[in-house]
Parts: sequence; C-alpha cells; structure tokens
Amino acid sequence: MNRVRKAVFPVAGLGTRFLPATKAQPKEMLPIVDKPLIQYAVEEAVAAGITELVFITGRNKRAIEDHFDTAHELEMELEAGGKTALLEVLHNAVPKGIHCIYIRQPAPLGLGHAVLCARPVIGNEPFAVLLADDLMDVEQSQKPVLAQMLDVYKEEGASVLAVQDVPREETRQYGIVSARPYKERLELVDGIVEKPQPDKAPSTLGVVGRYVLSNRIFDFLDSVGKGAGGEIQLTDGIAALMQHEKVMAYRFAGRRFDCGSKLGYLQATVAMGLKHPEMGDAFARYLDETR
Ligand code: G1P
Repeated sequence: MNRVRKAVFPVAGLGTRFLPATKAQPKEMLPIVDKPLIQYAVEEAVAAGITELVFITGRNKRAIEDHFDTAHELEMELEAGGKTALLEVLHNAVPKGIHCIYIRQPAPLGLGHAVLCARPVIGNEPFAVLLADDLMDVEQSQKPVLAQMLDVYKEEGASVLAVQDVPREETRQYGIVSARPYKERLELVDGIVEKPQPDKAPSTLGVVGRYVLSNRIFDFLDSVGKGAGGEIQLTDGIAALMQHEKVMAYRFAGRRFDCGSKLGYLQATVAMGLKHPEMGDAFARYLDETR
C-alpha cells in the first residue's frame, strides 16, 4: 500500500461570505489570532507526514504563494533590527523539507473539478484533500485529525472521509453519507449525496473538509458531470468510487470550526485565542470580566 505523501488544498473559491474582507485578499488568508487559516491546514498536513503540498489556486490568490515563500526584504529588516524571535516566527511559517506546487483552476467549476486539476501531480498515489475553511482543533493528547485519518487509511487500505453529526436542518450545507457501523468511530459508506434538503437527507452524518482518497477518484471526477449547484462535485466522484472500492466514514476525535461562516470563524478565534501561548490567560480573564 502506498504511503500518503501528497495533499491537495483547493483555494480557488471567492469567499463571498466574508466580503468586503475578501475583496482584495483570499479568504484562506483571514487570520485566526495570528495565523492565516491556510497555515492551520498546512501545519495539520505536515504533522501527518505530508511532504508535497498542492494548492489549487485562482485569480486573486497570489498572497497564498507569497505566504509560503521566503520574504527576503522583511527578513533582512528583522535581522538588521536584531528581532530574532520574529524572524523565527517568519521561518516557521514556511514548512521545512516540503514542496509547494501551485496549479491554477481556470474556472470555478466546483470542488470536484478543483481536485481533478491536481491529477497531473498526484499520479498513481493516494492523497489527502484539506479544505482550509474547516479548522480542526484537537486536545494535546490527541493526534491532528489528518494523522488520525491516515492511521485509518493504513489499517483499512481504503479512502477515508472525516464526518460528524450535524443538525438535520443543516444537511443542505454538507455532503451527507449513509453508512453502516464497522468499528469504533468507523463506518462503511454505502451512499453519499451533496447538500440534500433536510427531508431528503439519508442521515445526519456530514462530511467535513478532510479526505484521504484513492487516485481512482480522478477517473470518476473526469466523467461525473455537473451536480448540485451546477458544479462538478467531489461528493459525486466519491459516490462513483464507492461502487468500486471501500470508502470509510471516520468520526474524528476533536472539534471542527466552520470558518466559512462568520459564527464559526468567531468561535475559532475565541478557541484559539484561549489556547494562545502568549495571550491565552489574559484573554480568558478578559472574557470572564465581560460576561
Ligand atoms: C464542501 C463539500 C461538502 C462538504 C463541505 C465540508 O462544501 O462540497 O460535501 O460537506 O465542503 O466543509 P462547501 O462547504 O465548499 O460548500
């Protein structure tokens, strides 16, 4: 079985829900405390042993490439000013021993299409997909979510989708799976549908933005055609893949923040603020005082 070395980050979306903040910058660069959303996702991937990061970008996304590149002028200035701690922060933003690859998605044809754009660099290997909108937080005693999923992949040799129970009235925001219990935290997927209405949803088990996928998905994404919202959906590719290979739904340990929504974004900011090594305690005191 192939090791999972490559991860795809679809970052071509317009981020209209955060306008005007996203008028001139990618939504993936919105910070949670002091790190942009995309950096949380990249750090999770790197912590899981991923070494090739494949970003599927679009217009207006240059800031992401710049973020994961060296900032020479800034470094020189910090060096001249003896600001070693800040230099360290800057260096840490660029993961060591990692390759970043950028592919443009020429038109916003959907998440499935974005993933299909990665085909030339993924080749015959299994790979991960991380949606930076979904910030996955774990306790110190827990492995990062993608690392948990790679453990499942190693054990089962099958594609793995991260899932959580969602309120029935929210099924229209998710890919929803129907699945049979298999092992602790693990279910065998026997159906998946993109954004069903609450009364049509086969269950309330929603897919969140972490996937480990067999490369056979590309054949199906190539031929599924337009689905929900007139877009090529990753969910439809998975529905086709499932007819040929085992696909597992994994109830991850940890907490997911939907940073594609304003409420989720604020919740993530509070959670990460409270955990922040420098100002977590002061922030907790502030919240106590203002309650
Ligand atoms: C995408 C997927 C959906 C999944 C969701 C998780 O939707 O299409 O199946 O449940 O991410 O965040 P989006 O949120 O991009 O509309």
